[in-house]
Amino acid sequence: MKHQKVLILDFGGQYNQLIARRVREHKIYCEVKSYKTPIDEIRQMNPQGIIFTGGPNSVYLDSSPKMDKEIFELGVPILGICYGAQFMVYGLGGKIEKANDTAVAEFGRTDCQFDTKSLLFKGLKKKSVVWMSHNDHIATLPEGFKAICHSDKCPYGAIENAQKKLYGTQFHPEVNHTEQGFDMLGNFLYNVCGCVGDWTMEEYAQTAIRDIRAKVGSGKALLALSGGVDSSVACKLLAKAIGSQLTCIFVDHGLMRKNEGDEVEAAFADSGVNFVRVNAGERFISKLKGVAEPEAKRKIIGEEFIRVFEEEAKKIGKVDYLVQGTIYPDVIESGAGDAAVIKSHHNVGGLPDYVDFKEIIEPLRMLFKDEVRVLGLALGLDEKLVWRQPFPGPGLAIRIIGEITPEKIAILQDADAVFREEIAKARLDREINQYFAVLTNMRSVGVMGDGRTYDYTLALRGVSTTDFMTADFSRIPYDVLETVSRRIVNEVKHINRIVYDITSKPPATIEWE
Ligand code: XMP
Repeated sequence: MKHQKVLILDFGGQYNQLIARRVREHKIYCEVKSYKTPIDEIRQMNPQGIIFTGGPNSVYLDSSPKMDKEIFELGVPILGICYGAQFMVYGLGGKIEKANDTAVAEFGRTDCQFDTKSLLFKGLKKKSVVWMSHNDHIATLPEGFKAICHSDKCPYGAIENAQKKLYGTQFHPEVNHTEQGFDMLGNFLYNVCGCVGDWTMEEYAQTAIRDIRAKVGSGKALLALSGGVDSSVACKLLAKAIGSQLTCIFVDHGLMRKNEGDEVEAAFADSGVNFVRVNAGERFISKLKGVAEPEAKRKIIGEEFIRVFEEEAKKIGKVDYLVQGTIYPDVIESGAGDAAVIKSHHNVGGLPDYVDFKEIIEPLRMLFKDEVRVLGLALGLDEKLVWRQPFPGPGLAIRIIGEITPEKIAILQDADAVFREEIAKARLDREINQYFAVLTNMRSVGVMGDGRTYDYTLALRGVSTTDFMTADFSRIPYDVLETVSRRIVNEVKHINRIVYDITSKPPATIEWE
C-alpha cells in the first residue's frame, strides 16, 4: 500500500527534524526537503500537505531563502511556521515588519488566545501558552487572510485563508513548550489536509521488504553487524527480505560487554542469513599488548577490524550490495534528503574500498532512531538489542585505562554487568541514556576481612543527554549506588574502591579513555 506523504520544506530552521518527528508521531509519513526543491518535483511527490519550517532570516534580505510562489497555487494545504508564515504572507502580498520598528519581538513563553472556529484550533482550549521566537512579525495580511490567534503584543499570532487551506503560525507548534502544539499539528494534518494516519512500522516493514526483494533480485548482499540497534534492525529486515542471499559478518573483537557476543549470535544465527561470527579476541589483544595511549588503541582496533572484515568478505567472493544502517538524522544533516550525499562509510567506521559492490542499500534511511526501535520490535528483534545503549566501536578497550590485559577485560566485564543489572532492577535503564563502568589504572590500599588489599579503583558513569554532544551526569539514587558498590567489591575480585563520576560534558567527555 502506498502511504500518504507530507512534505516539510526546510527554510533553515533549527527545529526541522522536530517537526518531522511530530508529523510521524501522528502516524503520517513525511519527508524534509530543501526549500530549493523544484516545483515540478514537489508536484510529482503529490504531498497531502506541506509545512514550511522556520528560519533564521528576515524575508526582506536578498539572501533569505525564498521559493517559487507557484507553491501557493498547487492547491495543497500549507502550514507556515514562524519564518515559514512570514514567507507565506510576503509571498502573497502582505507585509512583514522588523521588530525594532514596533518593539513586538517575542521570545519564549507567550499567552495566546485562539479562534477555535478555525480548523487549526478546533477542539482546543481558547487560551494557552505558545513558544514564540521571532524578531520580525506580520504587519499586514494578504487578501483573503484573517487572524485566528493573538497575544497581547502580537495581533497575528496565527492566520488563515481557510478557502485556500493556507495557515501560518508566528509561534512554534512543534516544541513541547507550546502547550497544545501537538494537537494543532494534528488538526492541520487530519482536519485540513485530510490525512488518515496510515504510517505504521508494520506497514513500513512490509513495503521495505518488498522493495528490497525487487532491488536485490537473486543478487548477494553483505552487512557488517556490530550488534548496535541500527545494524541489528537492518539485519533483521534484510533477513526477512532475502534470507540466505545476505551474509552478515560480526567481528567479535573480544572487547564487548559480558555475554554480548553470544547475545548477538543468538539473535541472528538462526535467522536464515549466512551469519559469520569471527572470534578475533586473541588477535586484537595481541595487537594491543603494551599499548596504553587511547588514540593508539583506537587506531589499532580500527585497522584490525578492517583487516578481519576484509579476510572474511574475500571468502564470500563478489557481492552486489552493501547494507548500511544509516538513519534519517544522518540524511537530513548531510543535505535534506539529497540523495547525492550518501555517507557510505558512516556506520561501519570505514569499510575497505576494495569491497566491490554495485550499490549501497540503506533500509533505515527514512527512519528516526525511535522508529528504528519500533521497527526492531515489529520484526521480533530481541528487546535487549532493541534497547541497547550506545556502545563505542573500540568497546571496552577505551574503558580500560592504560594497558589492556585479558584479566582486566574480565574484571571490567563482571563489574559492568553488576552495574547494568542493578540499574535495570531500579528501572532506570530507559531513563539514563548511557551508563557503564570504567576500570581505572589506579590502585590503592583497602582492607577486606582482616587483610590488606592493593587493588583497582572502578569508576561508574551515568549520563543524561539527548544528542551525546553535551551531557549531564545522572542523579542515580544513593541507595542504588550503594547496592552496586557493595555487590561489586564483594563479587568482583581485584576491585576495592568505587567512585561515581559527577562531571558533565563539557568539560569531560562521556567516555573515559
Ligand atoms: P564522548 O566520550 O566523545 O562520547 O563524549 C560521545 C558518545 O560517542 C560514543 N563513542 C563512540 N561511538 N564509535 C562509536 O560508535 C566510537 O569510536 C566511539 N567513541 C565514543 C560514546 O559511547 C558516547 O555515547
